[in-house]
Amino acid sequence: MKISWKKKTLPLILIALLFSCGARADDGYELWMKYRRITDEHLLKQYREAIACIVMPGESATLRIIRSELKRSLNVMLGVDMRYRAATANENALVIGTPAGSDIVRQLQREGKLQNLGGEGYLITSITKGKNRFTVIAANRDIGLLYGAFHFLRTLQTYQPLDQLDIVSTPRIRYRLLDHWDNLDGSIERGYAGKSLWKWDELPKKLDNRYYDYARANASIGINGSVINSVNTNPAILKKEYLGKVAALADVFRPYGIRVFLSVNFSSPISARFEQEGDRKGGIGGLSTADPINRGVKLWWKNKVKEIYALIPDFGGFLVKASSEGMPGPQDYGRTHADGANMLAEALEPFHGIVMWRAFVYEPKVDPDRVKRAALEFLPLDGLFRPNVFVQAKNGPLDFQPREPVQPLFGSMTKTPMMLELQITQEYLGHSTHLVYLAPMWKEYFQFDLFAKGPGSTLARIVDGGLRNTTMTGIAGVANTGDDRNWCGHFFAQANWFAFGRLAWDHSISAEQLADEWIRMSITNDSLTCATISSMMTGSWEACINYMTPLGLHHIMEVDVHYGPGPQHDTGRVDWRSVYYHRADSIGLGFDRSSSGSNAVGQYFPPLRSEFDKLETCPEKYLLWFHHVRWDYRLNSGRTLWEELCAKYISGTKYVRGMYAKWLSLEGAVDPKVFSSIRAKLEKQLVDSAVWRDTCLTYFQKFSRKSIPNQ
Ligand code: GCU
Repeated sequence: MKISWKKKTLPLILIALLFSCGARADDGYELWMKYRRITDEHLLKQYREAIACIVMPGESATLRIIRSELKRSLNVMLGVDMRYRAATANENALVIGTPAGSDIVRQLQREGKLQNLGGEGYLITSITKGKNRFTVIAANRDIGLLYGAFHFLRTLQTYQPLDQLDIVSTPRIRYRLLDHWDNLDGSIERGYAGKSLWKWDELPKKLDNRYYDYARANASIGINGSVINSVNTNPAILKKEYLGKVAALADVFRPYGIRVFLSVNFSSPISARFEQEGDRKGGIGGLSTADPINRGVKLWWKNKVKEIYALIPDFGGFLVKASSEGMPGPQDYGRTHADGANMLAEALEPFHGIVMWRAFVYEPKVDPDRVKRAALEFLPLDGLFRPNVFVQAKNGPLDFQPREPVQPLFGSMTKTPMMLELQITQEYLGHSTHLVYLAPMWKEYFQFDLFAKGPGSTLARIVDGGLRNTTMTGIAGVANTGDDRNWCGHFFAQANWFAFGRLAWDHSISAEQLADEWIRMSITNDSLTCATISSMMTGSWEACINYMTPLGLHHIMEVDVHYGPGPQHDTGRVDWRSVYYHRADSIGLGFDRSSSGSNAVGQYFPPLRSEFDKLETCPEKYLLWFHHVRWDYRLNSGRTLWEELCAKYISGTKYVRGMYAKWLSLEGAVDPKVFSSIRAKLEKQLVDSAVWRDTCLTYFQKFSRKSIPNQ
């Protein structure tokens, strides 16, 4: 069949025109809320028929947000000027309401359909009445409607049919927070996307538009709280002046269902004059101690909490990094973490605020093996915390390494609600330069079985309260946002923010589904292009592990910046040195944490304990985490440790080459601005991954004395 030149080239010309002059180039600002015109004519017709108008009774700040979101999205996606009605009439409609405002929803309530939705859940259902079809978004509270509206928009953005909708959705976890490591001077600890979003010098008078867009983005994925300042907290955040600024942010976030939380410095009640050079012990109060059992200290915190709630009635609570990495804490006064947490919890209790007390502690005197220390310190305190305290632990026992086994505390703390802390910002995973899709990593952690109550005791069930039947449940992600125009520094890092929120709401969604949703909402709905991009993302985490720290290696990055390789690092604090972790010698490689080594394996429940303990049964992905392995030890592949190590490093870099080739093949199929920015990032990742491979292999070769195969 002969195709005319017009048929062949016209679409290309149109695309080029669209990108060059018609449509704005994509600078990433709109995230996954792009709301482009539906290009599938069949679906467009279906959508237009189903949503002839919108019936949305009621008035509130949240309802206004929903209306404006629907307006900015549907008008463009469907190419219509959407009509709004106060009540249903003789035409198809999208009906949005709570029982208070809508007859149809009251009927659903009478049928018991809203009973299990709680305050945040929603249902989306198709109802036929006579000749008319209604697509109904129903919830008990307005915030549920906002979540439902975003779900509905996602359905359209990802080109799903609308005819038989029957969706019931409630969050599996109650507190779903972003933890910002933002400092008051505008810098962000481990932030790679510019400066802090919070403009402290302009607040509270000037409210940047981004505050609203930040809240919108979070609400669209189900985040319901933000800890807005760094865990290495400047006590000044609790000064009156700053609390006024925090209150202004809280006012912006409130109708989006987002509560504000603060990181606090344990020394806050003390006078600044107690600060000595760099010891972070000075505060903003007038006291000479921050001892948690001191009456004056307790009173100081109670008054401070009252002051906060007078300004922010729905204030969420405190996140605390104490007696950790030089931060002050109860141990400065011979008290325990429980003493410290409970003192703050008591002050917050009357206002229903919570304390998230971090278990990121690793005092050398506790144990020679750093990964054992948090469990050793916290386990004896299990049962001693007040009910509004979470112990918040990172996913692994070390520190957000490319891969870790799960922190055993999650299994063993049976009487204390455990909040899971994940890291969205890629501190150890190539910052905002490397394309690393983190959902597969989080899924691996969620699915990790701790056997705390026999098989099926997954981290997911511990964190969502299912295993221990509790509703005090929480998850936090260390944010990757900043004031870069595209929010995250790397266009693809937006997928990690998106996936974190969606998984916090429902950890059972697959990483593949989330990638597909994100691509369709952010880049394109063209199925072939989607599949190519998805195939790049899916294996990118495993590839990153392979070119950085394969087979259970960990903490061998360059000092301080945590970006490039630094396996040779051997100075300063012992448990910050690479050699402490990899233990390379002429015999082999890896940290012996078996029962004949540090016995970190002993912190896990059986059968994990013995599985990790034996070299033969230890999963190879954790091999060098738990064992010092001989260079000539044979792995499942039949290769020796050395050969496997080389193969892994090489395969990691090959994957990056593959991603690069796939991306190049998409020129013309994706927005040119996105295309070129990602191409440049991938070019850097190609170089960096090769540097990791070569630095690590040449370094370890000094010990193995074996040759490195050609790549
Ligand atoms: C890591 C990180 C620090 C951070 C700390 C924490 O050590 O490098 O920047 O403060 O974690 O989680 O408190």
